[in-house]
Amino acid sequence: MMVEKRGSIHFEEIPMAKNLTAQQKELAKGMVRVNHLYRSALKVAMTQVEILDEEFASLYDHSPIHHIEYRIKTLDSIIDKLRRRGYQVTIDNIYAHIHDVAGIRVICNYLDDIYYLRSLLTRSESFKVLRETDYIKTPKDTGYRSLHLVVEVPIVISEGTLKLPVEIQLRTIAMDMWASLEHELRYKSRRKFSQDDAYRLRLCSDAISEVDREMQNIYQGAGPEYSEKRKKGEKKAE
Ligand code: GTP
Ligand code: MG
Repeated sequence: MMVEKRGSIHFEEIPMAKNLTAQQKELAKGMVRVNHLYRSALKVAMTQVEILDEEFASLYDHSPIHHIEYRIKTLDSIIDKLRRRGYQVTIDNIYAHIHDVAGIRVICNYLDDIYYLRSLLTRSESFKVLRETDYIKTPKDTGYRSLHLVVEVPIVISEGTLKLPVEIQLRTIAMDMWASLEHELRYKSRRKFSQDDAYRLRLCSDAISEVDREMQNIYQGAGPEYSEKRKKGEKKAE
């Protein structure tokens, strides 16, 4: 299942496009171009992920992919991010400093699926890995867990071949549930995000990590040594 979160934009759709100064028009047109080019990069990357998904569906019982979401960063968020990082709002700075204009989120069933997919995606010669951050091995202080890849994807346009970054976030269903709630509470909720919320979310993150590992083991029918370890742990706790 693919979920596209936002479509492409046209210059004419920009509020008051007709009333802009020449310089503002230049920037606005550049932004539309950014939107178009990164959408193209997103399509290329999405196609590759879909190919893998379909291959699993046709060859095996189990697909490592539960579902995929993708989105292009809004112009507002791009501008916010540039400002937050202390950069001037210019088209060149978008290409140079914002690596998540195009974003794909792959939600996997099990922990191992994430690393399996990672190995498949990074093995491809057309996807050069620019950056990899493993927030599963080293979660953020908030409790956030996911594997982040920034891959460089080639797109063929009228002027030649262009390489653009696409951010791929890989996470389990449980990690996704955690990230959605945390994001909702921290940025969208009307009530204030409290210290207590943050603390409880960190506890949930640890619990989810344990559940993810246990689900993985159950799924794989992990052997008696695993059950033995658990029993010993439980006896200690008694
Ligand atoms: P951003 O400015 O947030 O994009 O930071 P970044 O580009 O340095 O990358 P980072 O790896 O910190 O985060 C990239 C993305 O991961 C974010 O846009 C979120 O989608 C997600 N993310 C990172 N940290 C958190 C977190 O603590 N909570 C949640 N819910 N999502 C997070
Ligand atoms: Mg980001």
